[in-house]
Amino acid sequence: MKVLVTGGAGFIGSHTVVALYEAGFEPIIVDDFSNSDPQIIEGITAIIGKKPTVYQENCHSMDVLKSIFEKEQIEGVIHFAAFKAVGESMQKPLEYYDNNLGSLIVLLKCMLECGVKNLIFSSSCTVYGEPDALPVTEQTPVKPANSVYGNTQQIGEEILSDTVRSLEHQSLKVLSLRYFNPVGAHPSALIGELPRGVPNNLVPFMTQAAAGIRGALTIFGDDYPTPDGTCIRDYIHVMDLAEAHVAGFRYLMSHESPAIYDVVNVGTGSGVSVLELLQSFERINGLPVPYKIGPRREGDVVAVYADASKAEKMLCWKALRSIEDGLRDAWNWQKNTSKPE
Ligand code: UFG
Repeated sequence: MKVLVTGGAGFIGSHTVVALYEAGFEPIIVDDFSNSDPQIIEGITAIIGKKPTVYQENCHSMDVLKSIFEKEQIEGVIHFAAFKAVGESMQKPLEYYDNNLGSLIVLLKCMLECGVKNLIFSSSCTVYGEPDALPVTEQTPVKPANSVYGNTQQIGEEILSDTVRSLEHQSLKVLSLRYFNPVGAHPSALIGELPRGVPNNLVPFMTQAAAGIRGALTIFGDDYPTPDGTCIRDYIHVMDLAEAHVAGFRYLMSHESPAIYDVVNVGTGSGVSVLELLQSFERINGLPVPYKIGPRREGDVVAVYADASKAEKMLCWKALRSIEDGLRDAWNWQKNTSKPE
């Protein structure tokens, strides 16, 4: 059974490709490699023991997508392809709206024309903004986005729910998975996160600081109203997140009708502070991470972590790996990628 994975060479996409394959699906990758690296395809090939089908294309083009749908018998789509840098989105709003929403609209039109009914959309806990109560459930109100990127996620969810609602007599089944903070890498260390330039996210910066590639990690603020003053997030192992997509896809496949639109939190349920994460990294990997305390980063929420009970009830999925697993795998991947040729 073929599943189209847009952005399948990216961080979460590539791990999902592996999880799909291991669950018996045939992932078909569409990726333009604008923010990913062909070396990840080699890693996937080494893990699954065969070269996956890859279309080096941008999914903003109706003609391109249609020709792929016509060539392959696609059962459903997992849509990762999008720009995702919060800071950059504020500098380049039109590029973000055009790429993220334009490609979603093209994809939906194409699915409807070609009769492809199942879709999983990459959303994010960023839609909750600074929540009034923790943990956040799917009923927690969506707050106005504080970045263009966050707004593309919110509008993407609205486009999907409006489309499903309008299709009374057709069946389109969509799950928006609201990811918390993915970390780690495949345990083989053959695929992982490959940020371009200076990493924006905490764990890639941490592994590069530990490897001596960057200077000290700056902790953005230690005067927040949390026990140690640093922000709290829900760090989920990327393989757990990948497996949530498989569970989500199985859910959609097993529900023939009526049309479905639903949102599901994908997190662990535990909040961990930046300082706690750093100390866990040092303990599990047995090496120091140089760091300093800096000012707060604009736009950061103080604390967010998931109530993940809906995913467990609905998708029979829960996170199985620990934060230590994630930090060990992230470090193994870092060592593997920074090895001299
Ligand atoms: N942090 C540092 N130093 C760094 C980088 C991050 O202290 O060098 C801190 C941040 O201030 C924050 C925490 O580490 O408190 C996590 O930051 P990340 O940038 O790793 O992740 P965010 O929670 O800001 O955002 C991530 C993704 C977004 C996504 C969001 C919610 O980058 O795309 O999770 O899902 F929208």
